[in-house]
Amino acid sequence: MSKLWGGRFTKQTNKLVEEYTASIQFDKELAEEDIEGSLAHVQMLSECGVITEGDMKEIKRGLSIVLEKIQSGQFEYDVSHEDIHMNIEKALIDEIGPVGGKLHTGRSRNDQVATDMHMYLVKKVKQFIKHIELVQEAIITQAEEHVETVLPGYTHLQRAQPVSFAHHILAYFWMFERDKERFQDSLKRANMLPLGAGALAGTTFPIDRQRSAELLGFDAVYPNSMDAVSDRDFILEFLSNASMLMMHMSRLSEELVIWSSQEFQFIELDDSFCTGSSIMPQKKNPDVPELLRAKTGRVYGNLFSLLTVLKGLPLAYNKDMQEDKEGMFDTAKTLDGALQLLAPMIATMTVKKENMKQAVNEDYSNATDIADYLVNKGMTFRESHEMIGKIVLHCIQQNKYLLDLSLDEYKEFTDLFSEDVFEVLKPYNVMSARKSYGGTSPEQIVQQLGLAKKHLSVEEPIT
Ligand code: ARG
Repeated sequence: MSKLWGGRFTKQTNKLVEEYTASIQFDKELAEEDIEGSLAHVQMLSECGVITEGDMKEIKRGLSIVLEKIQSGQFEYDVSHEDIHMNIEKALIDEIGPVGGKLHTGRSRNDQVATDMHMYLVKKVKQFIKHIELVQEAIITQAEEHVETVLPGYTHLQRAQPVSFAHHILAYFWMFERDKERFQDSLKRANMLPLGAGALAGTTFPIDRQRSAELLGFDAVYPNSMDAVSDRDFILEFLSNASMLMMHMSRLSEELVIWSSQEFQFIELDDSFCTGSSIMPQKKNPDVPELLRAKTGRVYGNLFSLLTVLKGLPLAYNKDMQEDKEGMFDTAKTLDGALQLLAPMIATMTVKKENMKQAVNEDYSNATDIADYLVNKGMTFRESHEMIGKIVLHCIQQNKYLLDLSLDEYKEFTDLFSEDVFEVLKPYNVMSARKSYGGTSPEQIVQQLGLAKKHLSVEEPIT
């Protein structure tokens, strides 16, 4: 089959080379963007007088037939035409004859492929922003129900201080908020048009790149044609933002796995989000958060892979850049899966507040509060810390918790103790006492929830 670039060749391409250099196996995912870009390109060419209106209409008619074939699954992708761009151009020429050969006037596959990827990512990123919001909404719904639910807060995975469950999961709301902001900000750079840069140096035809941008909904055009065809920062930014988002989802997943274990029993994931074991009848496994945690690795891998591909490339286009696609598609697919599952998984999980309450009653996470209590009675914090450490040790030796000691036992350590210490020590009061801005007291959480909801109701300035 003759190549669109076959003129200067005297031999057929080796079959293995064809296979090795082709990208059609994966870049067919860009078919719709490619055709959309071509439609705008011919429109602009005709407006600028580079091709006639008649030719433009004929090419558009041909492209819509090709698009239909692609969408209905009738299109036959051919590896001998290497990539999506040449597969479509070849199909167009087969459909409408030599006039189809005018489509590629004033453009190169280099600016074409970059344009396709910009279009693809802008669309996907906007979708991800919406999907992150669904996760945030599920978090808010759970948080609203559990402002007063107390559980142990951990540092080093050791019981630290009691916190509200709402406060704990709202921490993830803010991580996802930053992820959204990063994605939103990245649109500024993704929404920039390379088309019209040609192979690398621009074109001799009197084209209007601003017009192409307008037709395709881009906010700006690349001011330097060499940068336009060589820039893959927008993909790296996507992979980097995706990595951070996956890391956040993975941390949350880890908590879900731990919390749903027999040892914790703080939550139970809905049956519809768990799987069983082929041998152990009793098992209910948290496969979804486990896999999400694991898939974070492939997204990091995709980021590192592309960073490495790009680091030694001279300007302008190099075939190495074809390696930018699979990692991008794979990352998009991975995010799609994770985000779509996370929201309903959070929404349907059962929070076992009685177990959480029991946990905080059986630990020393109220110790800081007696230390603060003695400070309020006039002791320095260091002295008080030392003394409470001794009281905790005494309790451990006696197999008791701080609330089990009598006032007399407390008074043996210092006379500063009086009956009010027992109120201070109750886990709910310990949580409620943290009224500093951003703290875990119910008042602060209600304020935080209000702020979180405001962030959700802001219409994103998506263009
Ligand atoms: N399939 C190529 C890619 O994805 C398209 C650009 C090819 N350009 C070239 N000069 N060979 O990078």
